[in-house]
Amino acid sequence: MSTKPAVLPRDPDSSYLFLCRRLRELGAMDLAAYKSPQVQRRLVSFLEKRRLPNLAALARALDDPGCLEDLKVFLTINVTEFFRNYERFVELDEHVLPQLPAGNLRVWSAGCSNGAEAYSLAMLLHKGRPAVEHHIWGTDINGPGLAKAETGLYTLPELKGLPREYLQTCFLAEGQFHRVHPEIRRMVRFAHHDLLRHTFPAGYHLIACRNVMIYFTEEARAKIYRGFRKALEPEGFLFVGGTETLLNSPDFGLVQYRPFFYRAV
Ligand SMILES: C[S@@+](CC[C@H](N)C(=O)[O-])C[C@H]1O[C@@H](n2cnc3c(N)ncnc32)[C@H](O)[C@@H]1O
Repeated sequence: MSTKPAVLPRDPDSSYLFLCRRLRELGAMDLAAYKSPQVQRRLVSFLEKRRLPNLAALARALDDPGCLEDLKVFLTINVTEFFRNYERFVELDEHVLPQLPAGNLRVWSAGCSNGAEAYSLAMLLHKGRPAVEHHIWGTDINGPGLAKAETGLYTLPELKGLPREYLQTCFLAEGQFHRVHPEIRRMVRFAHHDLLRHTFPAGYHLIACRNVMIYFTEEARAKIYRGFRKALEPEGFLFVGGTETLLNSPDFGLVQYRPFFYRAV
């Protein structure tokens, strides 16, 4: 990893490009694949928060690993919820899961934030087929989010959106926290995986990637959708977020099955 001091261009646009290059060199993230106006707005807030005068100073400050991690977390929006958009999970349960093989399923929650989505999928699968051992892979680039996901400990406000039946059957009260039940916990494995930079594994029956693609450029999204298609088993499903409709899904070998679900063909 290079920690050479930065030589900085003067105009703001090239400072931005320089910062993108610096983050790539540090192996941190591919900032150029994120929609630029959004990122630039977040960067302005980050400069204010860190009391840094400009992007050039920020690029220099990234030699501090703490600042680098802080920036990554700040730039990636981590808002999540258990069973986010509950009606889509009902649809998944009633219309999509019955289309999948009866045996154990391999599910990927890509961009899982603090684990809420990955555990929601595990709970739903466990409810429907408790005797079958399913595997859920929860991935993200946000280190603190993944660390929280690993603990499986959530406060009641963090469990907002969780139907009562799941709170009662899939969590154990532990002081001010609720711990994911060991039977659910062991279904889920978490890992650091960057959708923009890492290779995709294969053999998934269902991939949930929700409220993540909206942050990427069109070019980056196209590459990821192709990657998801390869990662899916034939007839497997991609589950997307509310504002992530694929207009040209057949280009990626995906056919719309219901509004937020695409089937690999
Ligand atoms: C708004 S959250 C969505 C969480 C969850 N999927 C949901 O819908 O509730 C977006 C997540 O995408 C993650 N993310 C951003 N860029 C990523 C990348 N290049 N690879 C993997 N995850 C990424 C962020 O860290 C964040 O946790």
